[in-house]
Amino acid sequence: MTEQVTVPAIRARKRSRGAEPIVMITAYDTPFARVVDEAGVDVILVGDTVAEVVLGWEDTLHVGIEDLAHHVGAVARAKPRALLVGDMPWLTYHLEPSDAVRNAAVLVRAGAQAVKLEGGRRRVPAVRAICDAEIPVMGHVGLTPQSVHAMGGYKVQGREAIAAGELRRDAEALAVAGCFAIVLEGVPDALAERVTAEIDVPTIGIGAGPACDGQVIVLHDLLGLAGSVPKFVRRYAELGVAATAAVKDWAADVRAGSYPSQGESYRASAELREALGLSS
Ligand code: KIV
Repeated sequence: MTEQVTVPAIRARKRSRGAEPIVMITAYDTPFARVVDEAGVDVILVGDTVAEVVLGWEDTLHVGIEDLAHHVGAVARAKPRALLVGDMPWLTYHLEPSDAVRNAAVLVRAGAQAVKLEGGRRRVPAVRAICDAEIPVMGHVGLTPQSVHAMGGYKVQGREAIAAGELRRDAEALAVAGCFAIVLEGVPDALAERVTAEIDVPTIGIGAGPACDGQVIVLHDLLGLAGSVPKFVRRYAELGVAATAAVKDWAADVRAGSYPSQGESYRASAELREALGLSS
């Protein structure tokens, strides 16, 4: 698997046309970008979840475009085969469409091949403007974490028929505006299935059931490096526990005087020991 994943290749990945599900995961730094790329994922998202899982904030509203560019650059330096998507932080695409284009360009110059932004029909002018600047856009509807205060918390969206209808129209509008794929987050499985059948571009689910054209997950949730996780997260490793155990073992060796050993030290020559007044 050496061929670079491209936007048109992802755009074509509808399961209804026989395609394999799209695999998308977050990464925020070079070592983990290498890890996920070597695992063969299709898309790496440098998400604004960096605010929570790496920088210790309680929500995603605390990062700006320069923070995201910093992390996009770190992931890009791993030269992944996967498509690299940079997340647009809150308030970097909500004002004038020209601001949205300029901010999207910051992520592209840092190494992103596409950008993602949250919201439905209200975001269509920004999506059109960014696409007009030849920057591919991934949409994101449903539970949009940047709207945490407007939603009154992290709640599953589209549970009622009217809200479900709004969400279907949002997804359709984003697809028509030019999004090459759309993340569906925190929506009932049947609604995700319906949207997936209705729109021409792939849907990528997170807490949206199995019918989407792909799935995305936050890497630190999957690896056991985050605290509490939503019910849709399946943990495939407990790296936090393993890392703490490793550091404890090292600390114990330091305290016992067994680290570093002679083999782990740069040995001085006999002449130097003599010059330093040490016994040889
Ligand atoms: O920022 C992020 O990690 C995301 C995913 C949860 C889709 O938007």
